[in-house]
Formats: sequence, C-alpha cells, structure tokens
Amino acid sequence: MKLLSVVIALSSLLAIGSSKLVICQYNCWAPFRTNPGNFTASMIDPKLCTHGVYEFAAYNPETDVISHSNTHDLDSEDGKPGGYRQMVELKLQNPDFVPMLGIGGAGAGSRAFSAMAADPARRAAFTQNVIDYLKKFNFEGLEFDWVSPNYLEDMLNFGTLLTEMRLRFDQEGLVLSASLRAVPYVNTGLSVVSGAVHFVVLMTYDYNGPWWLVTANSAPLFGAYNYCVNHSVFEHIKYGVDPEKIVVSVPAYGRSYTLADPASNSLGSVASAPGAAGPYTRISGWLSFNEISEDIANWVTVRDPIALVPYSYKGDQWVSHDDEISTKAKVEYVNNQNLAGVAVWSVDEDNFFQGFTLLKTINQWLN
Ligand SMILES: *[C@@H]1O[C@H](CO)[C@@H](O)[C@H](O)[C@H]1NC(C)=O
Ligand SMILES: *[C@@H]1O[C@H](CO)[C@@H](O)[C@H](O)[C@H]1NC(C)=O
Repeated sequence: MKLLSVVIALSSLLAIGSSKLVICQYNCWAPFRTNPGNFTASMIDPKLCTHGVYEFAAYNPETDVISHSNTHDLDSEDGKPGGYRQMVELKLQNPDFVPMLGIGGAGAGSRAFSAMAADPARRAAFTQNVIDYLKKFNFEGLEFDWVSPNYLEDMLNFGTLLTEMRLRFDQEGLVLSASLRAVPYVNTGLSVVSGAVHFVVLMTYDYNGPWWLVTANSAPLFGAYNYCVNHSVFEHIKYGVDPEKIVVSVPAYGRSYTLADPASNSLGSVASAPGAAGPYTRISGWLSFNEISEDIANWVTVRDPIALVPYSYKGDQWVSHDDEISTKAKVEYVNNQNLAGVAVWSVDEDNFFQGFTLLKTINQWLN
C-alpha cells in the first residue's frame, strides 16, 4: 500500500513536471442546463486535459465536513454512475488524466473557511476529512478555491492550512492546488500559498462585466490599466508566486450587455442592462462559448488590437468573450512567460457541439 502511494505520488509529480498543464474545470450544475446544452462529466474528453476538476463539493463551516452539492454528483439508487464516478472513470480513456475535486467557489462566501483555518485542531480535522472524502470517491487531488481571503489574517491562515495539507497530501500521493483571484485583495502571504501547492490557478477573467453597465473586455490579455491577464501574472510573481506554478485561465463564457443605444456599440458604450440570457445557460449577462459559437455568424465580431480579445454585437446585444484566436494568444503568452499551463472555466461551456474548440486550440499551441 505504502509503495503504491509512493508510486502514485511520483507519477503525479512527473505529470506536473514534464509538460504543461491543461486544467479542465467542470461545473457540477452543467447537467441541469437546457437540452442540448446540458452536459455531464462523462462527456469531457480526457485526452484534451491533464487534470479535470469537479467543481464544487460543499463545505460545512460548522462541522468541517465535505459533501456533494447536488443529486447528479453521486450514483443513483438504481446504480447509474453519478458525476463523481464519471469524472474519475475518465482515467480509463487516459491513464495520465488526474481527476480532482474542487471546494469553495464564489457560492461558498469569502469567509467560509476563516474560523477553521485559524484553528490548528480544526485544520487537522478538516484536512483528514478532505483526504477521506477524496479517497472514498477515488479523486486524486483537491483544488482549493477560497474566493477569496480578503483579510490579511485569512490569507496567512490559508497559507498555514495549505502547508499542513500539503504535508499530508504528499503522504497520500494527492495533488493540491489553489485558485486565486486575478486581482488579489491581499498580497502578503501569496508566496506561502504558492510554496504549499503543486500549482496555482489564476482566475484571469471577470475583470469587467455587465454589473458596471459600460461595455468592456472581460478578460483582456494586455491593457493600459491594471485589469488584464498580464498584470495579474506579473503582480503574483512580484508577490512571490512561482511562475512555474502559475496556470492562466481562459473563460469559456462571455459577459454580455444590453446596449442603451444599438448604434453605440464600441468598447466603453453605455448599457441599459445585462445581456439577454442564453438558451442553455439561462443567465442574463452571461453566454457560454457554446451559445456564442452556435450563433456567431449573425453577430459582428471586433478584435481589440491591444487586449487581443474580441467582442461581438448583434442589435442591442453585446458580449465580450474569448475565442480560438484570443485563446491562441493567451497560450502563446503562457509559453513565452514559461508559466505552468492553462485552465478552462468551464469545460462544459466550451464549444462541445464541435469537439471542444477552445480546448483543442489550447492543446494545439501549448508547449
Ligand atoms: C439532456 O437533457 C435531455 C432532455 O431532458 C436528456 O434526454 C439528456 O439525456 C440530457 N443529456 C445529458 C448529457 O444529460
Ligand atoms: C506586461 O506587464 C509587465 C509588468 O507590468 C510590463 O512591463 C509589460 O510591458 C506588460 N506587457 C505588455 C505587452 O503590456
């Protein structure tokens, strides 16, 4: 058993050290989207991903217990495989694929982990609960997505927690990663977080969105202001995050707006509301890349020569998004800066009607 753990630990490390990472984050609510935009974990192509992350399991801040978050996660009573099993069984198609579980996320709240992370006994119990839960379902790692430690004490405790978790994870042959805000509230302690984990996913999206009612790039690669991927990467490196652990995210969704005046449709135009909901995701202000791709011929697409991302408009609808061309630019950036790899939020929103066009672009250009 011990030997097996060591072998698994070594192979996980090799998988991380030898080539760039492609992290396929999966949203466990995707099965609930409207047909045919609904998506189950079994539909992920594990040959296009080094890691899959099942987002998110639920955390109970009263008991420090981890549990599933919806009925699709677990096997059904008549034995139909649930999402957890579907994710880990992707390994049958690609033995190098690393199935991971995510906890946290925006829904968990920014202070969900504060009390536990501040208490040594609770940290130890939580770590053991996580390990037991991962092993129970055959996950091989955890993505810790504390969105986000907004206070200095939280960030320092997060570093302590991750450092302790990593010691235990190494004994168990498990992978540990953290997702971090593109623009951190607190910089102090980022180097400890980086030191503790195998890799750090920077959530390099949502720099702008329809909440401001002024059209803007949601995930610009470059820019004059501090709100772009390049700035996030350099800031994190400045505060001690190891560039060889930095994974840059590409959003497989756009942020959409309803223009106040359809004739005023450039960047910086006034919007009257978020954009109309898409047919599958059904969230106003949000379109999956799948939804965008399906109708893109009817939209006018404009490319920002500085930000290197497109926006598209049709009538009074306007959306800032990524596509194959901007994704290629971001992958080349990751190559040039010698970063760890690329993550996609979320794989179930990629153009899977045509074989995951963003993921294919990432795999084609990442070296
Ligand atoms: C999508 O929804 C349809 C209709 O409810 C269902 O028949 C189909 O099995 C679902 N597909 C997936 C992948 O869940
Ligand atoms: C990327 O950010 C660095 C650090 O702020 C800056 O020196 C560099 O000019 C930026 N690159 C581009 C193309 O804007």
